[in-house]
Amino acid sequence: MATSVSGASSTIQCDTSAYEEAVETVELDWDNLGFTLVPTDYMYIMKCSEDGIFSEGELRRYGPIELSPASGVLNYGQGLFEGLKAYRKEDGSILLFRPQENALRMRMGAERMCMASPSVEQFVEAVKLTVLANKRWVPPTGKGSLYLRPLLMGSGALLGVSPSPEYTFLIYASPVGNYFKEGSAPINLVVENDYPRAAPGGTGGVKAIGNYAPVMKAQKKAKENGYSDVLYLDSTHKKYLEEVSACNIFVVKDKIISTPEIKGTILPGITRRSVIDIARAQGYQVEERAVSVEELLDADEVFCTGTAVVVSPVGSITYLGRRVEYESKGVGAVSREVYSALTRLQMGLAEDKMGWTMQIN
Ligand code: COI
Repeated sequence: MATSVSGASSTIQCDTSAYEEAVETVELDWDNLGFTLVPTDYMYIMKCSEDGIFSEGELRRYGPIELSPASGVLNYGQGLFEGLKAYRKEDGSILLFRPQENALRMRMGAERMCMASPSVEQFVEAVKLTVLANKRWVPPTGKGSLYLRPLLMGSGALLGVSPSPEYTFLIYASPVGNYFKEGSAPINLVVENDYPRAAPGGTGGVKAIGNYAPVMKAQKKAKENGYSDVLYLDSTHKKYLEEVSACNIFVVKDKIISTPEIKGTILPGITRRSVIDIARAQGYQVEERAVSVEELLDADEVFCTGTAVVVSPVGSITYLGRRVEYESKGVGAVSREVYSALTRLQMGLAEDKMGWTMQIN
């Protein structure tokens, strides 16, 4: 069977004969989706060998994969991941949001990590196939989305420290709702002063798998103390904002929106970029620059952005024992505005003047 997939400017035929689409309706509590793994029907796998060229991939039933104990990813952390979402429109069709941006970011990360990577076209095609094969898991409009998790890993065996002789690109999917347990309510962050997330010249600016385990210690401590997550400072001065464990940060003061600039130690978030563009289109002044922790504490409003967290308002920040509450200052006006503009676009409820969505028929 061939399925038509149209993007902003193209229509591509996807061969979907490799899988048998399940037709039974998914029995899931769509009203209470969180950000926990719900295994779906299929995953996509594509490999490349030493020539660096990815051959045609395939859909397989979702499940465990075989990996050499000597693989580059297990031994030396040679791995990258991405995150993007598919949304169901009211007419039942499905929209992807800026998948090419994830493809480009993976290619950028692969270059930094000496890995071969799929082309933008291969990446996007694979995402579309994964969504189509799992389309019964895309939540109804407004109830959540299907989260796609592309992985790129050094799967070839080796002993010394060097690039892997083989790479595997894999995508799995899970329906998701809110990332934080607070739901859409404001989150409470604590500023981490002892454990920086990234250092200049390191890999903080790419989506390397190794960027995430090191944040877990600070995150665990924060959660034990009742906080939702951790906000990291720059490792040089311990003064400027970097990012939260899984999202970017924005502060608002006197209607001016500021966010840390991209300089190699924070992730160039696709939601971050989209929110900047949306806010500017709505008439806000948005500054990408070094933002100090003092400015954070003096802000009118603070919010986080990310594929998983979407746009999450921050209710309080605690820094060196001092807690600042934003709710008393009328939290959330700007974040509500950009959240609404972004999600209406993603769900196909507003006209996509930006050309960011890609419809899968
Ligand atoms: C995403 O927002 O997609 C992310 O990659 C965050 C993830 C660490 C949960």
